[in-house]
Amino acid sequence: MRQSSLVVVANRLPLDDNAAPDGACEWRRSPGGLASALHAILEQTPATWVGWGGGVGPAPALPDIGTLRLRPMSLTEDELRGYYEGFANSTLWPLYHDAVEQPVFDRGWWEAYRKVNRRFAEAAAEVAEPGAAVWVQDYHLQLVPQLLRELRPDLLIGFFMHVPFPPPELFMQLPRRGELIRGMLGADLVGFQREQAAHNFAQLAGKLLGAEGADDAIHFDGRIVHTGAFPVSIDVAEMESLSARPYVRNQARQLRRDLGAHKKVLLSVDRLDYTKGIEHRLTAYSELLRDGRVKLRDMVMVQVAVPSRERVGNYRGLRERIEGEVGRINGEYGRVGEPAIHYLNQPFDRADLAALYQTADVMVVTPLRDGMNLVAKEYVAARGDDTGALVLSEFAGAAAELSDAFLVNPHDVDGLKETLLRALDADPADLARRMAAMRAHITDHDIHAWARAYLTALDHTGGLARHLPRQRRSLARR
Ligand code: ADP
Ligand code: F6P
Repeated sequence: MRQSSLVVVANRLPLDDNAAPDGACEWRRSPGGLASALHAILEQTPATWVGWGGGVGPAPALPDIGTLRLRPMSLTEDELRGYYEGFANSTLWPLYHDAVEQPVFDRGWWEAYRKVNRRFAEAAAEVAEPGAAVWVQDYHLQLVPQLLRELRPDLLIGFFMHVPFPPPELFMQLPRRGELIRGMLGADLVGFQREQAAHNFAQLAGKLLGAEGADDAIHFDGRIVHTGAFPVSIDVAEMESLSARPYVRNQARQLRRDLGAHKKVLLSVDRLDYTKGIEHRLTAYSELLRDGRVKLRDMVMVQVAVPSRERVGNYRGLRERIEGEVGRINGEYGRVGEPAIHYLNQPFDRADLAALYQTADVMVVTPLRDGMNLVAKEYVAARGDDTGALVLSEFAGAAAELSDAFLVNPHDVDGLKETLLRALDADPADLARRMAAMRAHITDHDIHAWARAYLTALDHTGGLARHLPRQRRSLARR
């Protein structure tokens, strides 16, 4: 068994198996913030990534990606239902996102969640060198830090929560609340997107397990568990260099022609998820058309909604509602060959996403709650000429950093409509000032800075961060 000094454990591998047109298995980068973020820092790092490759049944052997080894995990059909679709995505996901959909508490799912967490911990224990650092990711694997500590007390264990971590009033609804907090406390460092989440965690550790301490250091079981906020980011240099490619520029010009050369383009790009506020923005856009405040001859919207968690009931229902609404909007306001909204329920490769970002006059990002939202940062990185406007929900973690966006409360549809109009009519000099400020921020706070900050807080020496590839220089710095 090959072992590594750095091991990442995440529910998903950065690749998804995907049936090619001829039925063969084809591997593709998985959509989603976690895969986007970690792929960027790990593809040139000597590390092992433990995760699920999608699908059920025995895990296929996978080749390394550069210096990154992949350790695929298998899931049975029952585990997929109980662990991934059930406890992770029907209980924890809605609860952690302000319960915008009702969390389901099904007693049968806990056993699958515990069992799969144990298997992931065992796999990590196998591939970690003596004294290695193991970095566990996200809400799917909250029990892994403690289980791994029991198996391998020699390891340095980090945990990072990519999604929001709720206040006690919500978290206390969970039937297995104490075990989940105990699981996370097995780590040496528990990282969150926001300070508030670290505060919520410290309060819960005190309330449920009698742990003492402050928001940044919790005393538990004779150990100190450090906590803190580490807002995740994107590979700014990668998005900038993609956006500068001739293929992407041509593609963007072609898209513009296809969409209507003198129309303003509104763009949204999301996983098809009920936390993303897709329905709220469709309502706002449709009402602007209805009221004649925007006209079909001047405006077009593109909604990319990549399929996600398609077997979970709430997601199927959402897709039906969105597709119904898109059909209604086009039926009422479109003309032959001139739809009001283009809806694309497909994955895109990075270059095509960069072209879409370059085509958009206004990027509309309206989650009802989001740990970070990397799409908002990708849009800013793709706007090398400092044009374009970002309309961003106050409830995305990114809003704390991108304060020069047009911030909006997506629940307030009238406010959302006004904000869209303000962004559409903004003075180009104001847009350029805002975009330059946001680009400067993400350039300084890119994915490499995030990984360095986290790993340095984990080992206190900077030794781990030395594994990471040298930061590529952003174009803004050249
Ligand atoms: P989440 O983690 O909830 O999915 P984020 O906005 O943080 O939300 O991250 C989404 C990631 O998935 C981004 O890196 C984005 O580029 C990628 N993505 C979104 N839509 C697509 C798509 N249609 N095809 C490929 N990647 C996508
Ligand atoms: O951070 C949120 C998250 O659950 C990530 O763990 C994941 O990358 C993304 O959303 C996509 O979700 P899924 O892996 O369920 O398709």
